[in-house]
Order: sequence, then structure tokens, then C-alpha cells
Amino acid sequence: YVIGVDLGTSAVKVLLVDETGQVVAQASAAYPLAQPQPGYSEQNPEDWVTGTTTALRQLLADSGVAPAAISGLSYSGQMHGLVLLDRAGAVLRPAILWNDTRTTTQSAEITAKLGERFIAITRNRPLEGFTLPKLLWVKENEPELFAQAAHFLLPKDYVRYRMTGQLAMELSDAAGTVMLDEANQTWSQAVLDAFGLPARLCPPLITATTNVGSLTPAYASTVGLTSATAVFGGGADNACGAIGAGILRADSAMVSIGTSGVVLTYEPTANVNYHGQLHLFNHAVPNAYYSMGVTLAAGYSLSWLKQTFGPSDDFTAFVASAAQSSIGAHGLLFTPYLVGERTPYADAKIRGSFIGVDSKQTRADFVRAVLEGIVFSFRDILAIYQANGRDFKQLVSIGGGAKSPLWLQIQADILNKPIVRLASEQGPGMGAAMLAAVGSGWFADLQACADSFIAPQTVYQPQPANVARYAQLYQLYRQVYAATQPITA
Ligand code: XUL
Repeated sequence: YVIGVDLGTSAVKVLLVDETGQVVAQASAAYPLAQPQPGYSEQNPEDWVTGTTTALRQLLADSGVAPAAISGLSYSGQMHGLVLLDRAGAVLRPAILWNDTRTTTQSAEITAKLGERFIAITRNRPLEGFTLPKLLWVKENEPELFAQAAHFLLPKDYVRYRMTGQLAMELSDAAGTVMLDEANQTWSQAVLDAFGLPARLCPPLITATTNVGSLTPAYASTVGLTSATAVFGGGADNACGAIGAGILRADSAMVSIGTSGVVLTYEPTANVNYHGQLHLFNHAVPNAYYSMGVTLAAGYSLSWLKQTFGPSDDFTAFVASAAQSSIGAHGLLFTPYLVGERTPYADAKIRGSFIGVDSKQTRADFVRAVLEGIVFSFRDILAIYQANGRDFKQLVSIGGGAKSPLWLQIQADILNKPIVRLASEQGPGMGAAMLAAVGSGWFADLQACADSFIAPQTVYQPQPANVARYAQLYQLYRQVYAATQPITA
């Protein structure tokens, strides 16, 4: 058996997977997200560790599997979050997360200083959500605390550090710091020098399948595992989601809905140029890359709607209630810019809107408008790929959006692409388990593992009449950003 630990933004989910790729047991533990000021988004790293421990204990208890039979464990992690440690390895402040946008000034400073050279090195624009602007924010705004910082880590690398005692940062996640020379897969001395960042802050880089050793005896006994379980590097959640969806070749692409949403494709080299409109990061597959566009509030828009307006029934019923509405939600349009937007606008200040509110609309229309608005934002990302001469035969759907037949059909109709749902869709957690399986030597490589573990179940075909209607609505959606930007930003 192997374990995949998926350290998300709302919860940690752990999966126990057998040698045929079947999920034998799963467990999860939720943790809070703090928004002490508008645009801020923080978590307490200790909550990740506690949550992971709780979920792992539950997993072992539920499965009844002998701990000695678990050969490997690996991770998928929410990206970009800054965890600062002092010399003794203690956390210095709450982690500043990927969806925290306090860093507009620092992003502008980076562009002013390095301009196009920054993109040539890191292959990305220095957007607010990435880690480098967060480091500079702490340096400028909390200088005394920054002076105590000995290392920084990303969320899953911190949890792995606590479980193994080994301080390291894994490459696919490290790419999201935008402090890497991506093509050479090393920390960029030029970027560190430009901002006076000491190299000691940057931990040693490891790969997704690097065996970092066993759990510490203390952690192993806390959680009920043994030294038989080897721990492997893991990957960024989007890289792991891609692995779990079999996005291992250039003709494959996926759409993922977690707290954030992405449209992502595999890139065999770093030598692609989307003019900074898409992110380009190292994949958790050796020497490969992936590009993607990101909607900051995808699943988050839906959970916000549910939390704010209820009812408190489960998500499945909440999403399914959109079937009582119809295409276009009786004239209601939603833009999901609750915390700003990355792709295509790179605008931390924009806020979302409901346009066309009418007294005849019901709650079902609001749910439908949110489901549709999230997918319209993916259509914006797809449009960037298409404008750059890249298109996809079909898209694999993973995460929350892949659980609802209604939402899958909406994806097919708005994106005008066949949408594939997998037989055992487990999102990034499956990718993490696959890294542990390959690390444990079960397969020669991730492709061989994917061939054995992943199978398509259903394909949702775009329906021409719906496609035509959504194409008209998308033209209206396109106008909302420019029209609301002066009002909301
Ligand atoms: C990607 C990003 C999000 C997080 C979510 O750049 O910020 O998709 O990875 O955990």
C-alpha cells in the first residue's frame, strides 16, 4: 500500500491506495482560513500538521491494514504559501497563502527591477500570489521578524519536515516561488541577489520521487506507522492533480476545480512562450513542465455562496439544485472575482459580481450562475491557449467539478470540448499516491503507473444547442470585467 496526503486549502485529505490503484480507505480533516484584512489569507502551519495526524490515524483505524504493509507516503500541497522558520525550525508567523494578494507593491518592485529578465529566468510574471513577493513583503513590513528567518518552506514541505525532520523543498512546488531558474532547475542566484535575499533561506531542492527517509520515530508512533514507510518528496497540487489525471503527454489537458480552478496542459520543455499570460512551472514528472491559467475563486465561490446563503445541506444537493434553473440562470451572470483574479486579468483588486438580478430568480438560479461563471472563467483561459495556437481534443475534469454530472455537462457546453470523467477520480491525492508508488519501485515511471491506475469512465459531449446559447452568454460575460473594474476595484 501507499498513502497520498493532499494538503489543500480547506482540508487535508489522505488516501490509502493498493497496488492496483484502488482506494482502500480515505479520511480528511478541515482547518480554518484566516482573513485578518481584505486581501489577506493565512493559515497556521500547526493546523496542517494536526490535521494530517488526525486524518492519518483515522485512515489506519478505518482500513485495518497492517502499518508494516504501507511501503510509501507522499504529498500534494497547496502551492506558493510562505512558511518562515527560525534557526531552531520554529514557525515565525502564520503562513501567507497563494490566494493572499497583499503584495501588489512587491510584485511591481520585482517587475521594475528585473522586467523581462525575470520572466526569462523564472518563466513567470511575479504575480501577487507567488512566494517571492510574500518574502519581500515580510522583509519590508516585518523586518525584525525577517531578521530571525533562517529558512522558508512551502506548505507540504513544512508538513514533510515535521514528519521526517528533513528540511527540503521539492522542485515542482519550488517553481511556484518564482525564485528558480526553471530551465536549469536550480535556485536563481540572480533573483536572490537582486532582492538581497540570503541563499541560506532556500532549502535544498529535491524531486517528487526523492526518498527523504523514514518518519521520525516520534511521529511514526504518534500516528501508528512504522519505519517500513518511506517518505517521498511529493508535488505541487496542480502537478499532482495532473499526474492523477494522466496529464503526461503534450496532447493532454485538464480542468480542475478545488478552492482555485485551473486549466492546465503538459509542456515537454520550458521553451514555450505564452507572453506571461499563463503560468509555467516544473512538472512533478522529471524534466517536464506544465502551463496553466488560474481562477482564484472556483470552488471557493461555491462554498462562499453556500456558507453565506445556505442551506447547510451537503454540497452534492446544493450543486444539484442548479438543475431547477436552466442555461443562463434566468438572466443572472456571475463573475468569480471574490478575491481578485489571476488569469486572464492578473488583477488583485477586481471583485466579483452578479449581473441581472431579477425578482423572479430563485436560489437555484444563483447556484447555477455560480457554476456557469466559474466555467466562463475557464473559457477565458482556454481562449489564451487558442490565441497562442494551442488547442485540446478533450479535457479531463478533476476535483469538485467532476463530482456533478450537471456541472460536467456545463463544462462540456461552455468550453465546447468533450469532458472526461475518470473512473476513480481522487484529484491531487491520487497523484501524490502515484508518486509514492513510483518512488517505492512499483513502476518504472509515472506513465506506467498511470496506465495501470487511471481509466476514463464517462465522456460528456458538448450539446450543439447548449454550446450556441453559451457562446452568446460568454460574449456578455466578457464585458463584465471592463464594466465593473472601475466600480469594484
Ligand atoms: C496555483 C495556485 C492554486 C493553488 C491551490 O498557482 O495558486 O491553484 O495551487 O492550492
